[in-house]
Amino acid sequence: MHGPRRKPKVFVMTVMTIFVFIVVEVSKNAGQGKNSRNKVVIPTKAFWNKRVLHKAFWNQQQQRLDHKNNPILNGPNLTFSGGLLSDWLNYTGGQNSCEPDVSVMTQVKDFSSLPDRFKDFLLYMRCRSYPMVVDPPDICRGQPYLLLAIKSLAPHFDRRQAIRESWGRAGLMENKTVVTIFLLGNAAVVDHHPDLSHMLRYESAMHGDILQWDYRDSFFNLTMKEVLFLEWFNTRCSGANFVFKGDDDVFVHTSNIIKFLKSLSQAKAQDLFVGDVITNAGPHRDKKVKYFIPESMFVGTYPPYAGGGGYLYSGYVAKRLHGVTSRVALYPIDDVYTGMCLRKLGLAPEKHKSFRTFDIEEKYRNNPCAYKSLMLVHPRTPQEMIRIWAWLNDPALNCQ
Ligand SMILES: *[C@@H]1O[C@H](CO)[C@@H](O)[C@H](O)[C@H]1NC(C)=O
Ligand SMILES: *[C@@H]1O[C@H](CO)[C@@H](O)[C@H](O)[C@H]1NC(C)=O
Ligand SMILES: *[C@@H]1O[C@H](CO)[C@@H](O)[C@H](O)[C@H]1NC(C)=O
Ligand SMILES: *[C@@H]1O[C@H](CO)[C@@H](O)[C@H](O)[C@H]1NC(C)=O
Repeated sequence: MHGPRRKPKVFVMTVMTIFVFIVVEVSKNAGQGKNSRNKVVIPTKAFWNKRVLHKAFWNQQQQRLDHKNNPILNGPNLTFSGGLLSDWLNYTGGQNSCEPDVSVMTQVKDFSSLPDRFKDFLLYMRCRSYPMVVDPPDICRGQPYLLLAIKSLAPHFDRRQAIRESWGRAGLMENKTVVTIFLLGNAAVVDHHPDLSHMLRYESAMHGDILQWDYRDSFFNLTMKEVLFLEWFNTRCSGANFVFKGDDDVFVHTSNIIKFLKSLSQAKAQDLFVGDVITNAGPHRDKKVKYFIPESMFVGTYPPYAGGGGYLYSGYVAKRLHGVTSRVALYPIDDVYTGMCLRKLGLAPEKHKSFRTFDIEEKYRNNPCAYKSLMLVHPRTPQEMIRIWAWLNDPALNCQ
């Protein structure tokens, strides 16, 4: 403790000398030439890059939106090749027109050879509003702590019922209010669905938890489901503290989710977005893959995004996401789209190891204790949901 007093002083002096030396060296290097050290360097050119119009359609649409929303930051002089500029500026497609946009047939080079789902997507890409046909008015009256918003399809009656009877049981859980809703589009006749409207009406009258919009409930329209849900949330449920949004083939350990939410600091809770996060991904170019995206449509990498099986976020983030959707061009893969919106907000989803969208190891799947500490596991059938729920609620379950 009582060492000689001079040594530390010498040490401090030495450190300071080194520090001054470094600062001088750094500022020397910052100058361009020997005599420019004291000059203020003013860039002679614009400090932004000239942007070139992308060839891929989605990228083009996004550039248009970026330019429209912030022409100064995005540079006044976009440069274009092959007469695209005039097409681009003349393209008055409009944000919210729901007429098919036939100009995509010429704007997307290989339009005619694309699979039908791409044609449908591109033709209706600018349409963002569809009427609600089932809209339970007061479902969020009690300002839920946790809103469970489940993407379902009209024919999935058994999945919805299993969720109601197990992890999606609405009411109090861990002394917090939970509200469950199911998000549906139309079981369209064009997709050869039988007429389920009467059964749906009955189900909705029974449970009051169905939200349905009048659009074709296809895989590529899941992004519409996200946009419409955020719109609904903002107007009808914005008092909810947290949102879980996921598929109807997952098992969610709801009380673990609530315990996790209760444990968060206020700052953490406010900007929360957690799930099974995928980073450094990009579009699949193999036509046989479900997630295939042609190069004429999108070029680039995906931002980090949480797998659409299920993710958890704050009501505050939900409202901000809603605010930004009109600034991000629709992308046919819904979870990637949400990642794009988060990136626009300057947020990144956080990975949590308890979200198992790629399931747990096969040897543990029938072990009740394997589910004790999870938040989400995918996929599970309705019977499995009921069974796992019973395991977890068995007072005799002993996992040590
Ligand atoms: C943009 O283009 C105009 C006309 O060609 C030119 O006068 C102007 O300096 C350019 N601005 C920038 C920032 O490059
Ligand atoms: C763009 O629109 C203007 C005015 O409607 C028209 O005169 C011009 O020919 C159009 N250009 C292209 C490339 O379509
Ligand atoms: C349950 O929540 C209510 C309202 O938030 C609170 O007043 C009460 O103390 C809570 N009870 C327990 C056991 O935490
Ligand atoms: C999305 O829904 C709209 C409205 O029903 C429909 O016109 C369009 O074809 C659908 N898009 C896809 C990709 O299925």
